[in-house]
Amino acid sequence: MTNTCVVGLQWGDEGKGKIIDILAKDYDIIVRYQGGGNAGHTLIIDDEKFIFHLIPSGILHPDKKCVIGNGIVFDPRLFLDEVAGLSKRNISVNGNLFVSDRAHVVFPYHKKLDLLIEKQKGNSMIGTTGRGIGPCYTDKVARDGIRVAELLHKEHFKEKLKKTVEEKNRLFVDLYKDEPVSWEEIYEEYCVYAEKISPFVCDTVDLMAKAIDDNKKILFEGAQGALLDVDFGTYPYTTSSNASAGGVSPGIGVSPKQIHDIIGITKAYATRVGSGPFPTEIDGEQGEHIRKKGGEFGSTTGRPRRCGWFDAVAIRHSVRISGVDSLIVTKLDVLDDQETIRICTGYKNDKKVYHNFPADLDVLENCEPIYEEVSGWMEDTSNVRDVKDLPGKAMDYIRTIEEIIGLKVKMVSVGPERLQIVSI
Ligand code: GDP
Ligand code: IMO
Ligand code: MG
Repeated sequence: MTNTCVVGLQWGDEGKGKIIDILAKDYDIIVRYQGGGNAGHTLIIDDEKFIFHLIPSGILHPDKKCVIGNGIVFDPRLFLDEVAGLSKRNISVNGNLFVSDRAHVVFPYHKKLDLLIEKQKGNSMIGTTGRGIGPCYTDKVARDGIRVAELLHKEHFKEKLKKTVEEKNRLFVDLYKDEPVSWEEIYEEYCVYAEKISPFVCDTVDLMAKAIDDNKKILFEGAQGALLDVDFGTYPYTTSSNASAGGVSPGIGVSPKQIHDIIGITKAYATRVGSGPFPTEIDGEQGEHIRKKGGEFGSTTGRPRRCGWFDAVAIRHSVRISGVDSLIVTKLDVLDDQETIRICTGYKNDKKVYHNFPADLDVLENCEPIYEEVSGWMEDTSNVRDVKDLPGKAMDYIRTIEEIIGLKVKMVSVGPERLQIVSI
């Protein structure tokens, strides 16, 4: 029995959803353990597109269990929308989708705060997804949050919500000079949600423990990417959770000993959405071309993603903090028409050369990347299904990545469709 964790090694959107969907057939349970509605995981199957924000990307496999762990900040409205979207497409979630009773609930005041805090930051805004992620995790750590289990106890929920909203309204009115929110309206709305989500809610600690006892195979689905990890990413331009493999244990309540294999996902280049340093960012027409060819627009917010070259300094950092065992490289096809491809192997700043990812944002913002260049393959790879058919120069590029990162690449993705995958 091997349990596997899949994590993003960049600033999110590496194609984790597509890979989870492909891997899911070999597992019994697929688990989301951190993040929330900020995630947008895209699956394309026979021209049909699915984007999951909260529901694990294994849900299209009817015989698998999908679990939303306690480490998730859970937006019931978004969840119910996703469930409704699936049932419209005749995909049943009854009996195979579970939500932790310990997950923290996202409320409208979290989203409102998210937007107000961003506005107040002005030029230094993080560029959040506006899904209330930061404020909800803030309440959790401050021990002011409301958990799913509490939502299901009407009287208790009423009292706690009233008190919490009173405090939030002091912020809205006195600090932000904005409109207050009504606890009664939220209460009514969330009582309806409580009833609708209750069939999905359970003690996922118990569910996972029993699954482990029964030798079930578990696939842990990371959201975001290591460079958005609140501890190891480009703080404060990060999300508010641990997006590296270390997030699994606190995010679902299984021992770290239960993670046997860690797969890191990286694009063949790099993207980032939102603000923050991005040493290998490509400006101008070339960046625009990659954005268009790669369809690099946010799955959650639709914002254009910034595009850049593969950054081996950043990826090695991500590999270290998660203890990644192997790599999957996605979006190779997007580089099909690049004559020359660059890989960043170091950063130069003030005559100093960095091979480790620096904590100091000043260094990241002002460094000059040191590039190694490889020649492009200038051939369409999107129809390749067998490694033998990959152009020699594309294979050279993959081998260069393996060498620089020090890990094997076990799959290459050559298009958004489920079948556009090459095992190596
Ligand atoms: P995630 O958040 O890591 O699951 O990634 P997203 O779904 O946000 O973004 C990845 C985008 O790239 C989606 O639009 C996918 O459909 C698409 N995609 C995934 N793999 C490939 C690939 O190999 N090639 C191309 N061209 N697109 C891909
Ligand atoms: P998936 O799982 C890409 C980014 C936001 C912003 C920062 C903080 O699809 O890879 P937040 O709303 O979390 O407070 O925003 O993090 N961000 C993502 N970028 N993919 C994601 O998720 C992201 N989730 C958050 O753009 O820069
Ligand atoms: Mg995404």
